[in-house]
Amino acid sequence: MKPLKRTRDITPLPSRNFKITVDDQSVEACEGETVLSVLLAANYAKVMENDRNVASGAYCGMGVCHCCQVKINAKHKQRACQTLVKPHMSVETLTNRFKEEGIKHD
Ligand code: FES
Repeated sequence: MKPLKRTRDITPLPSRNFKITVDDQSVEACEGETVLSVLLAANYAKVMENDRNVASGAYCGMGVCHCCQVKINAKHKQRACQTLVKPHMSVETLTNRFKEEGIKHD
């Protein structure tokens, strides 16, 4: 598995880290941080693709806008800014449940 580098951390990570997977790449994370924090530290800008195939980045960072929805542990539409990382967590960005399940809009 290819490692993903965190290049945008403001302060160094504490020593008690663990790995999560983001888009099939392993990346360091630490207890207490959100999935969005990891994505931003790893230089992700676009994180979500909505049901109309439009990509967006996180906007509010506090759970209101729903612009940061990602797939976490095979569950769609989880807000990255409101989800704390856990060891072995799997995160997929730019997923689209409608596309994956063949659901069509009118
Ligand atoms: S960034 Fe607005 S809900 Fe997550």
